[in-house]
Amino acid sequence: MTTSTPDLWHHYGRTRAETDRDVPDSFYWTWGQDSGPGTEVLGGLDGAHVADLGAGSARHAAHLATRHQPARVDAVDSSPAQSAMAADLFGHLAPCLRIVSGNVTAHLQSMPAAYDVLYSVFGAVDFVDPRELLPAAAMALRPGGRLVFSTLAHYLSGSPAQADVVAGRIGAKTPDGEATTMPRWVLEEHVWVKLLDQAGFTDIAAEVWPAAEGPRTAATLLVTAHRPTGC
Ligand SMILES: C[S@@+](CC[C@H](N)C(=O)[O-])C[C@H]1O[C@@H](n2cnc3c(N)ncnc32)[C@H](O)[C@@H]1O
Repeated sequence: MTTSTPDLWHHYGRTRAETDRDVPDSFYWTWGQDSGPGTEVLGGLDGAHVADLGAGSARHAAHLATRHQPARVDAVDSSPAQSAMAADLFGHLAPCLRIVSGNVTAHLQSMPAAYDVLYSVFGAVDFVDPRELLPAAAMALRPGGRLVFSTLAHYLSGSPAQADVVAGRIGAKTPDGEATTMPRWVLEEHVWVKLLDQAGFTDIAAEVWPAAEGPRTAATLLVTAHRPTGC
């Protein structure tokens, strides 16, 4: 007997994909996707090997692949639905954009010292145990390489972020529309900094970008860290 895990990202971005097939003109990190810093946070991208961790439909990755001159951007996502959507929307941008369907930790572990830049926009960094993902990310970066991620500064309910390495449970939907839950890592800034330090990162910086007005908005925690040079 085989059992399969339902794809809890089946519905995400589906409605937008029906009408909006364009590569976005801007790259945003914040929850509202309408303000804050842009790609300058990633450092130099010319000739860089880049991966988006939990890329979803790969809109951010498509922007980097077309508006900058990286060697390649890998859009990694474990959701078959998201990878299929990404391939449908932006598959034509190969080989500069590569859609990689699979678990981000396994992918990073198979790519030692392969990347100059890794990033996540409310992506896999929010949904994978950081004690597994962050060491794998450090190993997949070249010395001096950079990890940047945006994550929730607090839960969407307004509850504060965790003061310990603990995942909360958030609502999700199966492809059939059944309500369920999944883990999400919403951690205080000092917890992220400690985890990154333990994973071998250096030059760690974090900044909070405020929530926009309105319902279901959230402040964004934007974190940057580097793999030390010379190791
Ligand atoms: C909230 S969505 C964000 C997608 C995209 N970064 C964006 O801004 O639209 C989170 C994404 O992380 C992906 N994800 C979650 N866990 C993952 C894992 N272990 N490996 C790869 N991707 C994962 C999900 O499939 C989903 O597409």
